[in-house]
Amino acid sequence: MEIRRLAINNYGEMVRLWIKTKLPFKPEGRDSREAIATQMKANPEFFLGALEDNRLVGSVIISSDSRKGWINRLVVDPGFRRRGVAKALIAGSEKVLRRHGIRIFCVLIEDYNTVSKKLFKECNYVEGRDVIYFSKRDSNEV
Ligand SMILES: CC(C)(COP(=O)(O)OP(=O)(O)OC[C@H]1O[C@@H](n2cnc3c(N)ncnc32)[C@H](O)[C@@H]1OP(=O)(O)O)[C@@H](O)C(=O)NCCC(=O)NCCS
Repeated sequence: MEIRRLAINNYGEMVRLWIKTKLPFKPEGRDSREAIATQMKANPEFFLGALEDNRLVGSVIISSDSRKGWINRLVVDPGFRRRGVAKALIAGSEKVLRRHGIRIFCVLIEDYNTVSKKLFKECNYVEGRDVIYFSKRDSNEV
C-alpha cells in the first residue's frame, strides 16, 4: 500500500469512494470538481490517497488554519479496513502538516462514530468533551 498525494485526475475515484462509503459530500458546492481543483491548486499536498495496486482504497483531506491542522473526510474502502490504512493516512497527514509548521492536529468526530473515536485514540489523539461545535453556513452546499 502506498500513501501519496492526489491530483485532480483522481477526483472521480475519490468521489466513487465517498459514494460507496456513504460519506456525505456536496457535489454542487465545495466538493464539485472545480472547487476541489481550486483547493488542490492552493494546497497541492492536502489531498492524500492510499493506493493498493494503483486502486484508491482510502483518502483524506487535510486543512490548516495556520495555527492548527485538521484531518477531514478520512475514509477507507470497506474491503480494505482493519489493515492500518486509516492509521497510515493519519500519519501521512501529520507529516504534511508538520512540513507546514503545524504542531497541533485535530479532527471533528460525530459522537456516535465509536470506530473513528477508537482509531484516533489509538493514534494518541486526546478527546475533548468540553467543546461543542458551532458553525454558520452561507448555503447548504458549502
Ligand atoms: C474509520 C475508518 C477510516 C477506519 O479505517 P481502517 O483503515 O479500517 O482503520 P485502521 O485499520 O487503520 O485501524 C486502526 C485502529 O483503529 C481501530 N479500529 C478501526 N476500525 C475498527 C472497528 N471497526 N472496530 C473497532 N476498532 C476499530 C482499531 O483500534 C484499529 O487497530 P487494530 O486493527 O490493530 O485493532 C473506516 O472504518 C471508515 O472509513 N469509516 C467510515 C468513514 C468514517 O467514519 N471516517 C472517519 C471520519 S472522522
